[in-house]
Amino acid sequence: MTTTAYQFRNAPAQLGPLEQVLDPLTRPDLARIGVRSGWRVLDLGAGAGSMTRIFADTVGPGGTVCAVDLDTRLLNPTNIIDVYQRDLRDGLDLPITPGSLDLVHSRCVLEHLANRVDLLAPMTGLLRPGGWLLLGEIVYSPALVHRAPSAEDHELIRRVIHAILDTLGSGGTDLDWGNHTHGHLLGLRMTHVSSHTRAEAWTGGGPGCLLMADNARQLHDRLLDADLADTDLHRFGELMTDPTVAVRGYQFTSTIAQKPHS
Ligand SMILES: C[S@@+](CC[C@H](N)C(=O)[O-])C[C@H]1O[C@@H](n2cnc3c(N)ncnc32)[C@H](O)[C@@H]1O
Repeated sequence: MTTTAYQFRNAPAQLGPLEQVLDPLTRPDLARIGVRSGWRVLDLGAGAGSMTRIFADTVGPGGTVCAVDLDTRLLNPTNIIDVYQRDLRDGLDLPITPGSLDLVHSRCVLEHLANRVDLLAPMTGLLRPGGWLLLGEIVYSPALVHRAPSAEDHELIRRVIHAILDTLGSGGTDLDWGNHTHGHLLGLRMTHVSSHTRAEAWTGGGPGCLLMADNARQLHDRLLDADLADTDLHRFGELMTDPTVAVRGYQFTSTIAQKPHS
């Protein structure tokens, strides 16, 4: 059991943009896996539930989606969706029969949990033979500014993005974890393990830059300790809404793996 606290507050200003940038990257993985009507899905750390709802639309009334989070305020149960409030730092304690699920999904969650490796075996234990695991993680990459109004702004954006990533790292988020999921899943004898990593350019005012702006707002006081001034963070907020600004977005790695049929 670990005491590392989750470093963000769940709010639409953060999770809305996160979903807007990541859902288009996750959907092709669902197509590769072949998620379909009637499937039983678990969404661990479901956040504001965009993927939960995509799963529910796909599995239909003959399937089920179980959405789990520490903070379930943004998740709504339906006739397809069950919502459970759980702290995954305490392990995986859910009313789900082992070996019964078609898919377990978890995006941008394990990277925040110190017991991430220990959770993998119980997660795969819930899968039926032939069932799938889909993980997505933000992975560290150096800040890259494609365009900024001035050389000073260029340097400020670079400093703030590095400070966000370093602050998360020092608070217990492992931004290297996504580089190791593939190996861990092979170690658990999963098959058809496949990973890919992407980083898109994000424009000021778009969802990616609004996500960065919200991350900086939520970490504001800790960023002041990282040698940034209040005026720097205010300017960063302005730049993240400026359509003449472009940065390389957070790097995202997704990994899919199938439980052996026998
Ligand atoms: C960055 S958000 C990702 C949300 C969602 N998976 C998505 O990609 O849109 C991380 C989520 O993990 C949840 N979380 C963090 N620590 C947790 C814990 N110890 N137990 C359960 N959920 C946790 C947060 O509440 C939040 O909803």
